[in-house]
Amino acid sequence: MRIYQPVLSIIILSITVLMSSCSEQQADVSNVSETEMRAGQMLLSDNCSGCHMASEDGTFSRISHMRKTPEGWDMNIARMMIFHGLEIEPDDRRALVKFLSDTQGLAPSETAAYRDVLERKHNIIEQDVDPDLAAMCARCHSFARVALQRRDRQEWQNLVHMHLGQWASIEYQMLARERDWRADALGPVSEKLGRMFPLKTTDWSDWQATEWKDMSGEWRMVGHLSGQGDMEGMMQVTALGSDKYQTEFMLNENNAILKGTGKSIVHSGYEWRGTAIFADEKVRQIWAASPDGNRMTGRFFRQGHPEEGMEITAWRKIPRSHGIMSIIPSALRVGVPTEITISGVNLSGAVAIAGAVVTVKEASTDRIILMATAEDTTAGQAKVTVGEDTSALAVYAQVDYLKIIPEYGISRVGGGPLAKVKAQFEAVGYSFGPDGLRDTGDDVRLGMVPVTWATDNYNAAAAAMEDAKYAGEITQKGTFIPAAGGPNPCRKYSTNNAGDLKVIATYTDGNRTLTAQAHLIATVQRWNNPPIM
Ligand code: HEC
Ligand code: HEC
Repeated sequence: MRIYQPVLSIIILSITVLMSSCSEQQADVSNVSETEMRAGQMLLSDNCSGCHMASEDGTFSRISHMRKTPEGWDMNIARMMIFHGLEIEPDDRRALVKFLSDTQGLAPSETAAYRDVLERKHNIIEQDVDPDLAAMCARCHSFARVALQRRDRQEWQNLVHMHLGQWASIEYQMLARERDWRADALGPVSEKLGRMFPLKTTDWSDWQATEWKDMSGEWRMVGHLSGQGDMEGMMQVTALGSDKYQTEFMLNENNAILKGTGKSIVHSGYEWRGTAIFADEKVRQIWAASPDGNRMTGRFFRQGHPEEGMEITAWRKIPRSHGIMSIIPSALRVGVPTEITISGVNLSGAVAIAGAVVTVKEASTDRIILMATAEDTTAGQAKVTVGEDTSALAVYAQVDYLKIIPEYGISRVGGGPLAKVKAQFEAVGYSFGPDGLRDTGDDVRLGMVPVTWATDNYNAAAAAMEDAKYAGEITQKGTFIPAAGGPNPCRKYSTNNAGDLKVIATYTDGNRTLTAQAHLIATVQRWNNPPIM
């Protein structure tokens, strides 16, 4: 009997493979035209079929059995070049990333929980990862890198084999004396991943069947730059065909007008990727459109400096939609006349802030600038009304305490071949709220408050090494600029300029002084910076 078992499993395997390729063929890909399908198949056939066998049903071995984000596909092709000597023209590589993301991408709901990593946010500590998977698969790279792929158990197993083959020491690295990494990875882990992140999902098939929207038109934008301030402005989007767009920006950031132009592409019907030039500064965009195509959220960041970025929200300007997008500043101090900018889409009607005297200085459907003085001495949230639209503004008598965001930051030494990675901190003010107590449910977040910044040695070991003296400097905008990389002969043991620091924010109001503290690890370079950490 034994001898027949392998034969039987080969038969079962072939049936499963056949079945899966049949239904892949039937998937609704009406968002991708016949011509685009043929062009994509040609690219795969020209560039990949030397190693990935093409079948008559139009599938390619390995390639057709997984789904990835645009960054996931691009990293995959980069790996084919580095590990396996693939040679591919940059235009073909871009076209393949587009084709694969459109036909084998992830639905908006499938990427929602992992956008921080896609958007290249700095100082993210992943939360709520399944402990087994965290120990097995999220120690060398983020768990997001895993969770942003879809494949069945057998393909997860193939990926484990790739890891074992490429990194022969992986089992030692992964504490193999306490754990049989290979057996766990091929067994329960692949099984679990296949269940959690399978190739076929209704999320993806429904998304493929939904009509993907054209992004052209006029967009209203608001954003926040950590530690620096707020932005509001406009974006004009013009279609260039094939999901490519020309963009024009007119942004108002801390009362400075910034103009920019750029190009963008939309992958998988909602993954907006762009670059734009502002003055001589190149910035990148990694945004996601909402399924109805009328909202976008994501980050703008400096080319080559993902840590320096702005979080944005954009709303399409369409006739029937209206609403308040942001209020700058986000808090009003009792008795202090304050200029306030309300940004939104199709704003109209009477303007009021509960408990405050309001004088409108300037009003358009996009923006209302007013002077407001809050009279009520009760701190809390005041309702803001513009015609039918409402929002809220914090009203406070005084800042009661501060918090620094992030509580734990990372910077990296640099210079030479690899740029320094800065760390940006922001001080957020809070009032105690009606109960007069800190850290209770009724506390009111007041937004960014002006502070002075300083650093100090984190502990005795840091003091002994004089970390605060050598690791770098913090600006009065809360930007920590690390020192140069490499050994420093002035330091004890000629060590490098890494350090363990306290970041201290001090807020002064008359004769009251408030302080808050955060932790900063000023560490060494990261030499390999892939798009998905
Ligand atoms: C020179 C041979 C070669 C070429 C050309 C090649 N590949 Fe691969 N590819 C491999 C090998 C070997 C593996 C298995 C080991 C690995 O994953 O690195 C692989 C694995 C893969 C996988 C599975 C990766 C995973 O996440 O498990 C995908 C997808 C893939 N290749 C896509 C492509 C695409 C797309 C192209 C064409 C642009 C391409 N390959 C061209 C050799 C090649
Ligand atoms: C010892 C370190 C290490 C461990 C442990 C590890 N990985 Fe990786 N993994 C890597 C490296 C390095 C790469 C990047 C290869 C490259 O440069 O593209 C990678 C790449 C990947 C990719 C992207 C592959 C592609 O081509 O799209 C996925 C997905 C992935 N790992 C999943 C896993 C899973 C699942 C586990 C747990 C079973 C795991 N990793 C455990 C080091 C590790």
